[in-house]
Amino acid sequence: MAASRDQWNSQIGFLFAAVGSAVGLGNIWRFSYMAYEHGGGAFLIPYVVALITCGIPLLVLEFGLGHERTGSAPLAFAKISRKAEFFGWWPVTFVMFGIVLYYCVIIAWCLNYCFYSLSFSWGNDPNGFFFKQFLKLPKGPMEISGINYNILLTTAIIWFLNWLIVFRGIGKGIEMANKIFMPLLFFLTIFLVFWALTLEGSTEGVIAYLKPDFQKISKIGVWIDAYSQIFFSLSLGFGIMIAYASYLPKNADISKNAIMTSIMDSLFAIVAGLGVFAVLGFMAHAKSLPISKVVTESIGLAFVAYPQALSIMPGGHFFGLIFFLSLVVAGLSSSISILEAFTSAVIDKFNMNRGFVVTIVCTVGFIGSIIFTTNAGLYWLDIVDHFITHYGLVVVGIAECIIGAWVFDISRLRRHINRTSSIKMPRVWDNIIRFFVPAILIIIVIGDLVAEIKAPYGGYSWFSLIMIGINWLLFTLIAAAFFTKFPWHYEYMLYAPDEENEEQ
Ligand code: ALA
Repeated sequence: MAASRDQWNSQIGFLFAAVGSAVGLGNIWRFSYMAYEHGGGAFLIPYVVALITCGIPLLVLEFGLGHERTGSAPLAFAKISRKAEFFGWWPVTFVMFGIVLYYCVIIAWCLNYCFYSLSFSWGNDPNGFFFKQFLKLPKGPMEISGINYNILLTTAIIWFLNWLIVFRGIGKGIEMANKIFMPLLFFLTIFLVFWALTLEGSTEGVIAYLKPDFQKISKIGVWIDAYSQIFFSLSLGFGIMIAYASYLPKNADISKNAIMTSIMDSLFAIVAGLGVFAVLGFMAHAKSLPISKVVTESIGLAFVAYPQALSIMPGGHFFGLIFFLSLVVAGLSSSISILEAFTSAVIDKFNMNRGFVVTIVCTVGFIGSIIFTTNAGLYWLDIVDHFITHYGLVVVGIAECIIGAWVFDISRLRRHINRTSSIKMPRVWDNIIRFFVPAILIIIVIGDLVAEIKAPYGGYSWFSLIMIGINWLLFTLIAAAFFTKFPWHYEYMLYAPDEENEEQ
């Protein structure tokens, strides 16, 4: 007999875990730059449109599928059709053997920087310190000449923490960790934002961040970026939200949880952006530079621009410690969700013991992370991230819509969701999932492919893009096919009771 399924101890525990997965590194350093680049306050229009027309409907779909079919992504899809099982394995495979491997290394960099903040180890050259001393970055991705042992050590710590949390299971591990992480993260962020807003010049930064430029949002690229941002930020297409919802009790409020998760994720991104730009405004003011000269995105923001600002800020050591600590917390609450997506899939299919699965998965994960701790690691993570997030996630999103709406019965799923939800999904949701979301996602993939063909991504050679990025994606496809081929330990698990008929 299969062991009974884990469950969340409370609805709020589930909500914290879902928000914990959604709020990640992407919210802190990706959103604010994107908003600034794409029209400031005006960017909020495509962003909110993308949230309402794609983010929330798809999150309701993922929660609904996980809850109605009571399974991780492969099990939920296999219960709909055996032929669909592969599309459950692919996301959990590329997140486990792709995204989380470098995600943990970036969290590890943040952990290193918590310590570096205490002594401003970067001196007066944060740029040179990060790229030359810390990463020892060579000229190209193929020039690997060694491992950065300080990064390897912190990466091992991050994997150990992941192991510790996921090993303990849903209630005692993931739920409990998020009940600590989420309030802590919100507290740290609010504290940082208020502090940042008191700095001289912060207002100029906030104005640059939010000043609306309506001309920019007439460009199609801005809309594509808004949809992609929502997609990554809500952890859609990762297989996470399906697994998380499968641990909900029967009477869970699906749509309210989906709406609250989405709103909290977006609010967090917008508010964190205030803090980011307040600090950049302060730096521009202190150095008498225009804002455009100090603004940078993602890695450049956290590891170069911020350290520059910290060095000249009153209380910079403490500010830096809290900033990097909040990145570690935001990252960990997302990385454990990725691990859980894969772990729950293996437990469902092979009926293995959780502790055993998590130990193997974390050991393999740590070994897989090593390549990203080498001196060429930054190039590798950039390339692998590009191919997995641009093609893997979006293609899985399309597959989910097709499987949920066309292979399964979308109105039946809506009835299931509405039965226990306080906010009822209207009929138009069926058509959004059937037509609108897949159409948008297809446009995004085509847009990406066109850009890809026009110029090789990031200025890398085609050779390295194929060897690292495309091969990595192919490997995840083969691995997913491999998992799909195995027989189910308990074949009967695939026959979901026909709830609707049962209730009649
Ligand atoms: N949703 C997570 C993030 O934004 C993966 O980083």
